[in-house]
Amino acid sequence: MREPVLRVEDLRAEFRIRAEWYPAVDGVSFTLDRNETLALVGESGCGKSVTALSIMGLVPHPHGRLTAGRILLDGTNLRTLDEAGFEALRGDRMAMIFQEPMTSLNPVMSIGAQVAESLRIHRGLSRADADAKALAVLEEVKIPSARQRFHDYPHQFSGGMRQRVMIAMALACEPTLLLADEPTTALDVTIQAQVLGLLADLKARHGMAMLFITHNLGVVAQIADRVAVMYAGQIVEEAPVREIFTQPAHPYTRALFSAIPRMDRAEQTLAAIPGRVPPLNDMPKGCRFAPRCPLRRAGCETPQVLAAAGPHHLARCHIATNTLAKELARA
Ligand SMILES: Nc1ncnc2c1ncn2[C@@H]1O[C@H](COP(=O)(O)OP(=O)(O)OP(=O)(O)O)[C@@H](O)[C@H]1O
Ligand SMILES: [Mg+2]
Repeated sequence: MREPVLRVEDLRAEFRIRAEWYPAVDGVSFTLDRNETLALVGESGCGKSVTALSIMGLVPHPHGRLTAGRILLDGTNLRTLDEAGFEALRGDRMAMIFQEPMTSLNPVMSIGAQVAESLRIHRGLSRADADAKALAVLEEVKIPSARQRFHDYPHQFSGGMRQRVMIAMALACEPTLLLADEPTTALDVTIQAQVLGLLADLKARHGMAMLFITHNLGVVAQIADRVAVMYAGQIVEEAPVREIFTQPAHPYTRALFSAIPRMDRAEQTLAAIPGRVPPLNDMPKGCRFAPRCPLRRAGCETPQVLAAAGPHHLARCHIATNTLAKELARA
């Protein structure tokens, strides 16, 4: 069996609140294959970005830390790397794109120079070779008149075009893993669709593994192969994209997706659920969703484990994964 590009096992990331440490990501595990997109969804504050930042080695010090787990990129455990080791990998074998491109673009450097810089650092290309390759990448992400605009600065581009420049920077060294954190949220719907199409195309052409964080179920339907739903620092459900839409198992997933009867009409964002995500320093002892769960019953006061809810389907809910309950529901 081929090793996945990325294997995350039992990841735990904590933040310090006053003198105590609390997990923001608590026992997260998943794998990602070549040419596969896993969408990570869930309400604000459930740990999606911290999961991605943990993989990139970007959890902020000193009030944040990883305390458990393994993160294997092509078999290398990233948790054994020091900062220099991460710097060598970032922008090379793994890259991240963010919601707001100006956070990753340098405002005083031309876009061509920015894309070329990463090629000189990671690939040791000469200035001329790096510029030529940078131009090719800018053309690949479909920046119009890329040659003429090579020496333009980020502020001379529209939001959608800046997003493409950031994607070009991320893709310049052909990473095996791309982490995308809400990369199209700030864009209008038409541009968003173009950027998503572009990412899907680039993923397939380069065989990348992609972790895609989003609130938007339409985006999930368009881009994901599999979906992991996070709640309060944990994955509560994971399944192929179609099953998440057609047979959500966890009450949290059902609630989030409740407004969405069909995959082809999934143009809305996650539904609002009464109540709110518990704060890091006040997690319920048993099922973390229980205080908000409409199906709460005996058994929910104990911690829940991810268990099979189908052949390729996991859910962290004794009600959803209890076969008897499922048979009763079907009867
Ligand atoms: N730098 C930080 N310092 C302290 N706590 C943090 C920090 N970054 C994140 N957290 C906390 O960790 C938890 C998870 O945050 P995270 O940013 O991963 O959420 P998210 O799922 O990405 O939410 P959103 O959808 O709003 O982006 C939250 O409770 C958040 O307050
Ligand atoms: Mg986030």
